[in-house]
Amino acid sequence: MADERPFHWEYRPEPVERELFRVEGGRPLHGTVPISGAKNAALKMLAAATLTGERCRFTNVPEIEDVRVMTDTLRDLGVVVDHPEPNVYEVASGDVDWLFVPLEAAAKMRASFILLGPLLTRFGQVIISNPGGDRIGRRPVDLHVDALRALGAEIDYRYGYYYARSPGRLRGGEVRFPFVTVMGTENAMLAATLAQGHTVIRPAAAEPEVDDLIAFLQKMGANVERTLPDTIEVHGRRRLRGAEHRVIPDRIEAGTFMVAAAVTGGDVSLRGADAGHLGAVLQTLERTGVAVESGPDFVRVSGAALRDGGFRGCDIETAPYPGLATDVQPPLCVLLTQARGTSHVHEAIFEDRLDWLGELRRMGADVTVRDAHHAEIRGPRRLHGADVDISDLRAGASLILAALAADGTTTIRGAHHVHRGYENIERKFLDLGAQIERVAEGIATPTS
Ligand code: EPZ
Repeated sequence: MADERPFHWEYRPEPVERELFRVEGGRPLHGTVPISGAKNAALKMLAAATLTGERCRFTNVPEIEDVRVMTDTLRDLGVVVDHPEPNVYEVASGDVDWLFVPLEAAAKMRASFILLGPLLTRFGQVIISNPGGDRIGRRPVDLHVDALRALGAEIDYRYGYYYARSPGRLRGGEVRFPFVTVMGTENAMLAATLAQGHTVIRPAAAEPEVDDLIAFLQKMGANVERTLPDTIEVHGRRRLRGAEHRVIPDRIEAGTFMVAAAVTGGDVSLRGADAGHLGAVLQTLERTGVAVESGPDFVRVSGAALRDGGFRGCDIETAPYPGLATDVQPPLCVLLTQARGTSHVHEAIFEDRLDWLGELRRMGADVTVRDAHHAEIRGPRRLHGADVDISDLRAGASLILAALAADGTTTIRGAHHVHRGYENIERKFLDLGAQIERVAEGIATPTS
């Protein structure tokens, strides 16, 4: 077996138009914001469509860069991808020309690795690059590979690529993970839908995006079910059919805009948000004194408390769903800078998702990063404008929140990170009364 240490490639990203956000802070946000479809559901469904040769149609797909990377990757494989109107995609993978997912796709987006399961179980072989993705930790894929080997796949690793094949159909089996992995669960589940026999996956991730993927697979005729809160069972079928599906709303985008309302002392309604997916975030906001009300398809957040003595500090700890989502931890850190007392942050999922707090400190926040998983935030502290840099998608969105709350002007470099996962984010903030503009900074090779 070739050495399976992560391969550090000399990936030379093509020069991109470096963009930045310029934000004039201190203005409360008011109004209604539409919540887009969930990035982390849509990307997996687009990949799952390769499980059948029949046409699949998806609505409420967010118009974001990661969706463009996924659809370009599918097209490179020879899959037909139509985009008849905004937020609508159709996929038909009658056959494919190549079974090769290149470094380019993987280096841009970790989620490209979700193609391993469906392509392997449908076509019997695939060569796929070791993914790059957000810079929030090592982000290995060893659990994905182990899961597919448990289903009979033969997978070798050589010089940055996984060479996977399955002589005959994959066979159902027991997939046991040492801890919850969202895409590990999804890769195993997708592979199992066409495997021969019964597969049990546990502990299976319980994120709403996983259940949305299950709902789509069931429409395709897959025999897949969440039989326990942490268990998914699949009885493989020989073939699946095309289906149509509307992507669920993005709970991480919703959490981001909820914090935006709070830290600007505004009053914002989120249209299309599913409060049923937001339990842990809503509880955290209420613990800090943010006023929240919710209905079947809206959530309303008021940050009035900001003017009446500020928010209450509180400790937060990330966890797999239904715990507090790690993707909402960065926005909540911005809120905690405006809260009284010392708040302790425990980022339990990733090992360096706190690095960005150094940029928040440059805006005046009183933050101490104790180690890779723990930080303390003391407040309330007025934030002031600064020149800051974005390192990853969620930190980038959080720096916008900090800039909206700060006095003065903030320049945020690396806007392309944010456009990976937030649809029309500056337009949505402008419509809420923010003063934000996206500015081209000239051509440069990104420090990827
Ligand atoms: C998904 O990433 C999401 N991405 C992430 O959202 C989200 O933060 C994460 O789940 C939450 O757990 C997509 O769905 C595209 P994991 P995923 O496997 O599946 C370790 C965003 O901003 N691990 O659940 O890659 C891993 O390092 C992104 O939208 C292994 O050790 O995450 C982490 O510590 C960021 N080996 C833990 O498991 C593996 O083979 C949980 O990661 C896989 C994961």
